[in-house]
Amino acid sequence: MRETEVVEEFRGLDWAGPFDAAIRARAGDALESGKVLLFPDLPFRLLPGEEGFLSPALADQSRKNISFDPITGKVNACTLSGPEEQRLGAMLDRFGRQARSLLVGLMPGYARGLERARTSYRPIEIDHRPTSPRHDDRRLHVDAFPTRPMRGRRILRVFSNIAPDGTVRQWEVGENFPDFAEKFFPRLQRPWPGAAWALERLGLTKGRRSPYDFLMLGLHDRGKLDESYQRAAPRVKLGFPPGATWIVYTDQVLHAALAGRFALEQTFHLPNESMLHPERTPLRVLERLSGRALV
Ligand code: SIN
Ligand code: FE
Repeated sequence: MRETEVVEEFRGLDWAGPFDAAIRARAGDALESGKVLLFPDLPFRLLPGEEGFLSPALADQSRKNISFDPITGKVNACTLSGPEEQRLGAMLDRFGRQARSLLVGLMPGYARGLERARTSYRPIEIDHRPTSPRHDDRRLHVDAFPTRPMRGRRILRVFSNIAPDGTVRQWEVGENFPDFAEKFFPRLQRPWPGAAWALERLGLTKGRRSPYDFLMLGLHDRGKLDESYQRAAPRVKLGFPPGATWIVYTDQVLHAALAGRFALEQTFHLPNESMLHPERTPLRVLERLSGRALV
């Protein structure tokens, strides 16, 4: 695989736009075809006094990410408190708002359906985090979360590397979603009857899992746990240096984060109807493989 198959690069842009029609068309098409949109020279700028937040000591020992909930305005899993914690929250909120402005500038059709979820701050070196294979994001995977049913909605993420010391965030990106899904689909187990209802009743999921969610979790787990796939699957190595920003549908793009620290990330959810090309989504790919509706 070659880098140009998985990355679409944009130079000289800012967070706010406006962007001309040729750039918007290139961005929307590349993003929805499962490419990473890369902005090598679009840094998230810290305000004076925020440099102090560039420390791994900010992260709670037990968790890998600090998160900010834009609805409640609360910062989670952080060792700061009081006004310092609030200032960190303001920084994360600013990142989320810039990320939204970039997305809406590039894909104006997303504005209506775009839902801002959590912002995360990942100050800790990936390499040093002990994890089980299922939780190991150094293995190629598509994102799917056990507690959060998406019911066909998309997971779109904006990342920025804010490392002060030149540390590059290293990723791998794998084959396209249809090829990946086709390989693993025959091996996915069907949930037992009543599973979605029971998980919801027991409080193990926020809302009810759809057949789509079971399949996506199956792809996530089967893919990560398949040692020979992890060893031999086609992939491209990508390095995101400090000052780079990148946008990716992590439910569609097979990705692995191998190394790096001090990244910001903003998650958005989008309904399938907001897509420029709804037929390319994981939902439609899995529905074609299943021969039935999945939500
Ligand atoms: C992931 O979504 O697998 C992790 C991405 C990152 O932290 O760079
Ligand atoms: Fe991931």
